[in-house]
Amino acid sequence: MHTFHYQDGFLCCENVRLLHIAETVGTPAYVYSKHTILDHFQRLKRALSPLGAEVAYAVKACSNLAILQLMAREGAGFDIVSGGELWRTIRAGGDPGRCTYAGVGKTEDEIRYALEQGIYCFNAESEAELRTIDEIAASMGVKAPVAVRVNPNVEAGTHQYITTGRKENKFGVDLDRVEALYAAIHHEMPSLIIRGLQMHIGSQLTSIEPFVQAVNKVAPMAARLRELYGIEFFSIGGGIGIVYDQPLPAAFPAWWESRESRSHLHIETYAERLIPLLKPLGLRIIVEPGRMIVGNAGVLLAKCLYEKKGESKTFKIVDAGMNDLIRPALYQGHHEIVPLVQHGDDLVTADVVGPICESGDFQAQNRPMHDIRAGEYLAVLSAGAYGFSMSSNYNSRPMAAEVLVDGGTWTLIRARQTLEDLVRGEILPE
Ligand code: LLP
Repeated sequence: MHTFHYQDGFLCCENVRLLHIAETVGTPAYVYSKHTILDHFQRLKRALSPLGAEVAYAVKACSNLAILQLMAREGAGFDIVSGGELWRTIRAGGDPGRCTYAGVGKTEDEIRYALEQGIYCFNAESEAELRTIDEIAASMGVKAPVAVRVNPNVEAGTHQYITTGRKENKFGVDLDRVEALYAAIHHEMPSLIIRGLQMHIGSQLTSIEPFVQAVNKVAPMAARLRELYGIEFFSIGGGIGIVYDQPLPAAFPAWWESRESRSHLHIETYAERLIPLLKPLGLRIIVEPGRMIVGNAGVLLAKCLYEKKGESKTFKIVDAGMNDLIRPALYQGHHEIVPLVQHGDDLVTADVVGPICESGDFQAQNRPMHDIRAGEYLAVLSAGAYGFSMSSNYNSRPMAAEVLVDGGTWTLIRARQTLEDLVRGEILPE
């Protein structure tokens, strides 16, 4: 379900005109649809209900407290990758006992903090990390629940920067070494409790095959580990892709409705194909979706500041830069760009660029799009995941505001940063 649509020529999120939000809070601003987020979560939960799977929201995708609170109230678990993410999850009302902690570089302080908070499991990525967790747990007189992240060496068919399950990636432990590592934990690391097995092969997967291949490779091992060490869970990670690249719509409402059918990877297909492989394991199954929950539930609002016509190109210069949304620059990410107010069918092929002093600062290149003129607002679509959470203060630009829409009302869930925020913590030497 997507709740962004045109009504009387105005782009709306649920029942709120985005123009109203842009004019009230200014731009750039991220706007999220509560109902879309909840719908995506519930759809996945429902599809996986034969497994009774735990849906652990990947906090990194969009970590605003209000979004985390929404997920916590809905009954989500959380997939975290830092002490900071654990801290904000707890602050938002999330249960640390439902947090799994991934990442190759957990620090001693982070491990101690996670142990104090009683997280559900550390998903460890190396033997060295496991030994560190063991030592810290021993020094605290507690037992640390652990799982090993297995790298199944499958090709995820996604952008190289977000592929994680191949041998040459830094993530996880090679499949053929995992069982020896479990034996080492069992025999040599007395302060660890073996709780599960985890994998995550990449993000923005648009085909079911890599998931099937990875589960087929790893499930027999999960079964053996259950026999040997009584593991209780198998997490298959996140990675479910969304549709970003819709062609220019003839009619906007029809376009939005057709988005779903164009999706390469339906949740239902994901569930249908994986349930038969996972169910016989008799383990608690965890999934860690980020993008699938929030990606299409958020947009980035911007204003067109200037138009510049070069010899070969038309540039639409907007007030959202790569510091606000880095996906196009970093992953060649495609985001549709549409006006907040429709006016006729004037089309143009343009580069939509930001104000940052980098040639990589663009939201779209050579894009056929509606002709959005200086002074008019636009929305960069499908920006809910890895949008705000990857933003920075580069070029000393305050970070954008964030807004959550619920039906006909909306709430500011993050104030735009002020200039004072830009220098907070900086110190002038005597
Ligand atoms: N679990 C683990 C261990 C992960 O590393 C990730 C994402 C997820 C779950 C959630 O993956 P998702 O369901 O969102 O695909 N910044 C990039 C994506 C990086 C993903 C990192 N790990 C982007 O904007 O495309």
